[in-house]
Amino acid sequence: MKVFITKNIPEAGILLLQEKGIKLTINPTENVSSRNEFINFCKQNDALLNVGTNNLDEDFFQQCPNLKGIALFSVGFDSVNIPSANSRKIPVGNTPDVLNRATSDLAFLLMQSVARKSFFNHKKIISGEWNSFNALENLGQELYGKTLGIFGLGRIGFEMAKKCKAAFGMNIIYHNRSHNNNAEKELDAQYVDFESLLKQSDVLSIHANYSKESNELFNKDAFAKMKRNAIFINTARGKFHNEDDLFYALTNDVIWGAGLDVTNPEPMKQNNPLLSLPNCCILPHIGSATYEARNAMAICAAQNIIALFEHKKMPFCVNE
Ligand code: DGY
Repeated sequence: MKVFITKNIPEAGILLLQEKGIKLTINPTENVSSRNEFINFCKQNDALLNVGTNNLDEDFFQQCPNLKGIALFSVGFDSVNIPSANSRKIPVGNTPDVLNRATSDLAFLLMQSVARKSFFNHKKIISGEWNSFNALENLGQELYGKTLGIFGLGRIGFEMAKKCKAAFGMNIIYHNRSHNNNAEKELDAQYVDFESLLKQSDVLSIHANYSKESNELFNKDAFAKMKRNAIFINTARGKFHNEDDLFYALTNDVIWGAGLDVTNPEPMKQNNPLLSLPNCCILPHIGSATYEARNAMAICAAQNIIALFEHKKMPFCVNE
């Protein structure tokens, strides 16, 4: 079996695959320059190990009729048209759980950075704007006893809620497709409707799987319902929020600030006006970027490919 790997991954995963005698084509240029080039690589292989944001839509599946399976190097599988994969009985695997800590750590870091304006103040030192200690400047807000609203309380959201409760005694509210009994029991989390989530949260953090139904759910109307001191955190997918509306909310005192690890598109353009705001902290999609998480992701992805190779069910399959 031959596998196309779109970008290099940690060695732990590569070694597992090589031990099984699986032939790997690791894209030599790191970035496949065009969709045609990407599809050509996929056509020449039995399976794809996809790192990054290639759009695996109906057209992709039509053009790659011999593909037998896909292993994603991500927990999110919004890049794949699952009905198209299902209709061709193509298993799609992801890398769940192993990045829960890393991603929730980053959401926590963004929350704190925005609350205390740390990234913004760091920039001030670099640009020589720090003149003297001033009792009325650079004031942030404390999070003790405030309300954390989680949109999508799954495994990553649970970790974020757990940290916020332990560190700041925050009250946890959440909105989800269904109740999370574990979070209600362990963290005293309270289920609320979407409108209440917007109105009651001091920090609102997105941890849901992206689907078209939630496209730009966080828009002008949503931001208008939020508190003026609210901090908006998105470490999930950039398409959850509307960037122009977020810019308006951040520059018109509608909400306090935002921390984003994801944008739409990625990479974000350098002249994006959000980058110039003192109350917006933006990172380049590094939620899972720890040695621990990325190694474990490589192993999960390799295990999914090996299962395919051995005609077994993928251990982390999203569509079977
Ligand atoms: C994930 O695992 O979904 C991360 O966002 C990387 O895509």
